[in-house]
Amino acid sequence: MIVRPYRRADLPKLHEIDQACFPPGISYSRKELERFIRMKGARTWVAEEQGEIAGFLVADRQPHGAAHIVTVDVVEGRRRAGVGGALMEASENWARLEHCRLVYLEAGENNSAALAFYESRHYSRVERIPDYYSTGMAAWVMVKWLGPARDARGRASKQDAEQRFRTLSFRP
Ligand SMILES: CC(C)(COP(=O)(O)OP(=O)(O)OC[C@H]1O[C@@H](n2cnc3c(N)ncnc32)[C@H](O)[C@@H]1OP(=O)(O)O)[C@@H](O)C(=O)NCCC(=O)NCCS
Repeated sequence: MIVRPYRRADLPKLHEIDQACFPPGISYSRKELERFIRMKGARTWVAEEQGEIAGFLVADRQPHGAAHIVTVDVVEGRRRAGVGGALMEASENWARLEHCRLVYLEAGENNSAALAFYESRHYSRVERIPDYYSTGMAAWVMVKWLGPARDARGRASKQDAEQRFRTLSFRP
């Protein structure tokens, strides 16, 4: 597998993947997806396996040293093989280079695969937003602290990330 930067010609395929990954009301229209990809401060990575797109991730740089994951989508038949993890790794490395102190994202509260995936990468649930999606579903805001490690295993603790997220003067 390789992870490479987005190219404009990828857009139709990325939109097709997003439509397959999410139900109506949560998936993006092609225009919305393109708007996120082209947003100032945004970066998109594409994972390829044997020349085929297996997944992608869109992130953007926010004020106050925060990076935001807009979406991470892996083709159904290619899941549980490390594609999502490799995309997250690329975006977290970029966030560190951009001097971000944390990464945050929103995940649907019924999206148990995504919640487990992010928790496996040490993201903590910090806030539940009711009616986040147009379908009325709530989302969890999840945060990973990228700053200096605190705990004995060399990672920031859950409480540390949560507390620091709450002290930031912005709201997702
Ligand atoms: C969530 C998603 C991106 C994960 O991608 P992936 O390529 O399957 O993830 P990885 O293979 O890197 O998984 C890493 C770890 O995350 C956890 N994980 C991933 N999917 C999981 C699932 N369905 N159930 C429980 N744990 C899961 C596991 O700990 C996994 O490690 P393991 O396979 O060794 O047990 C993928 O399921 C997806 O695209 N889902 C649809 C779109 C979506 O919901 N995106 C998130 C938007 S908020």
